[in-house]
Amino acid sequence: MGTIVTDEVKYIGVNDHEIDLFEGQYIVEHGMAYNSYVILDDKIAVMDTVDQNFGEEWLSNLEAALEGRKPDYLVIQHMEPDHSASITTLMEKYPETTVVATAKAFTMMKQFYANEYEAQRVVVAEGDTLELGRHTLTFVMAPMVHWPEVMMTYDSCDKILFSADGFGKFGALDVEEDWACEARRYYFGIVGKYGMQVQNVLKKAAGLEIQIICPLHGPILKEDLEYYLNLYQTWSSYGVETEGIVIAYNSVYGNTAKAAMLLADALEEKGCPKIAVNDLARCDMAEAVEDAFRYGTLVLAGTTYNADMFPCMKTFIAHLVEHGYRNRTVAFMENGSWAATAAKCMRQEMEKCKDITFAENTVKIMSAVNDESLAQINALAEELCANYK
Ligand code: FEO
Repeated sequence: MGTIVTDEVKYIGVNDHEIDLFEGQYIVEHGMAYNSYVILDDKIAVMDTVDQNFGEEWLSNLEAALEGRKPDYLVIQHMEPDHSASITTLMEKYPETTVVATAKAFTMMKQFYANEYEAQRVVVAEGDTLELGRHTLTFVMAPMVHWPEVMMTYDSCDKILFSADGFGKFGALDVEEDWACEARRYYFGIVGKYGMQVQNVLKKAAGLEIQIICPLHGPILKEDLEYYLNLYQTWSSYGVETEGIVIAYNSVYGNTAKAAMLLADALEEKGCPKIAVNDLARCDMAEAVEDAFRYGTLVLAGTTYNADMFPCMKTFIAHLVEHGYRNRTVAFMENGSWAATAAKCMRQEMEKCKDITFAENTVKIMSAVNDESLAQINALAEELCANYK
């Protein structure tokens, strides 16, 4: 039968617990869901496909939902293979299906699967519609959320926004977990750089009456949609979601770690709001990136290494720059036993980010914390806490 979204819209997606790294880089401890839906009207539309390893399972979910009927349309909103890899599987089983996608998506279809279905396709653009009977689908272009060919689809009958990667999260659907934590890590990892493009889609969505959001990953959202829309508004405008300070450090012999913890204690003592601390050598890098975007203040505490920064600090900052980090207060703590360069190098890289306010105080540790550097830690804590008073 397929899981019910509404009377005429069924969920036919799959859970992947075999995956180690999503998109070759993200740790997904609780697996991943590849969502797909079928709209059963006078005409039948299948919304996207799934990863290649789950094509048969997905097809059998589809077959059960169809109850002997055949799909008329396969709507492809996004060509990344976690959603498009089973196009051929469906087209071989139901060769009379018409494929509906953007022009860019058909170009990618040919690149990925050597077929662009010229004889049985509908190329759609902004505002085009597809009539299924009671359901009219309107296509909403969403370039760079997360690839250039992406579109979303609005069903005015059931007031559903099929949101492609938007509003997705890491994690399979048979695992219960907080939405925001894994949706935030997903958002900043996958589309963080393209806040403006997300803002453009949110503006279009504001003009639609939406009762259900059906993303390509994560749960179907039916309740309290304002909560999810507001988070997307904050994330895509690079706003501060949670008042607080995150300290991201690397430490070779424990001295920089100790300094980071002393700062965290000093901040707490002075009554700062939430403080998060990440050891960049050991934490999930995507979690550290997510935290940097979540809080308003970031402290980078790093050791000097080969007249530069330590490798994991370098990687972390590269992620921030690449994902369009901006609109934050940033402070530095450096450690070096002879020619310390970490603070200068960290700042040089962070200057590539827009709208950053650099703290006046920088902590300089020579090998280990002493009275002088402890005083600097307290001065930095004082300065950063002043923003929260
Ligand atoms: Fe879920 Fe951009 O693919």
